[in-house]
Amino acid sequence: MSSDPVGLTNLDFLPRYREILEANLPEGFTEFAQFFSGPQRLATLAAMLAAHAQGPRRRRVLNVGSGPFATEIFVAALQDQDILALDYTPEFAPFHSLLAQEGRLATTSFRQADILTADFDGPPFDLVILHDILYEPALDLEAVVTKLAPVIAPGGLLYIDFVNARTRWLWRALGKSDRFRRYDPRRVRRFMQEGGFDIIDWRPTHHAGSRAVQTFHRTLWALFRASNNYAFLARAKGGER
Ligand SMILES: C[S@@+](CC[C@H](N)C(=O)[O-])C[C@H]1O[C@@H](n2cnc3c(N)ncnc32)[C@H](O)[C@@H]1O
Repeated sequence: MSSDPVGLTNLDFLPRYREILEANLPEGFTEFAQFFSGPQRLATLAAMLAAHAQGPRRRRVLNVGSGPFATEIFVAALQDQDILALDYTPEFAPFHSLLAQEGRLATTSFRQADILTADFDGPPFDLVILHDILYEPALDLEAVVTKLAPVIAPGGLLYIDFVNARTRWLWRALGKSDRFRRYDPRRVRRFMQEGGFDIIDWRPTHHAGSRAVQTFHRTLWALFRASNNYAFLARAKGGER
């Protein structure tokens, strides 16, 4: 019987995936092999999509900041969807053809581009994913959502995760490095609602990092109902899909 966590798939491919990353990441990027081949970091996204976006209909998906395509391969709800993966880092681009040679990514096309300047044509997307990208100081959640909203179909879904501005004090108090862009969860909720989205799922996330880091995050949640990261799924108003 499979013991895959909810919403994850193809975990038997993980050792090979890691091997491909290790063999092909250039110098300076090798630490990413371990990072991207840890499937727990995809658990919240996978569970949310399993709950709200699983089904026979083929969806047109935009994955912004796709990295070396772990999302496309290991998230069950994304299997066989019509995916446009976009990332601006040239070092990750070769993995599209390397993984295609392994029989993966058959329905995923790739564009090397910066989301801040990319244009989109063609039909709107049924699902847009911003997984583990909005921590980037150069990206502003509100500006990115404002840019992407017109290319999301009515009733389409938008997945976002972000780092909590309200736990910044704790990070500083603990002397931890805090180079991430953070957002106030209340402001994010208000912005999404006023911007034409209904939030249909909202969760604290504790899945990334080592076991010790995960335990720390769970304790923070248990004691203070505070999370350093949140993930949510929002539906564009205007239709059920
Ligand atoms: C931590 S990785 C996450 C990759 C993937 N979403 C995942 O979770 O496996 C962040 C990715 O966002 C990409 N990224 C950051 N800013 C970007 C931008 N402005 N346009 C396109 N990609 C960007 C980086 O190149 C990197 O691959």
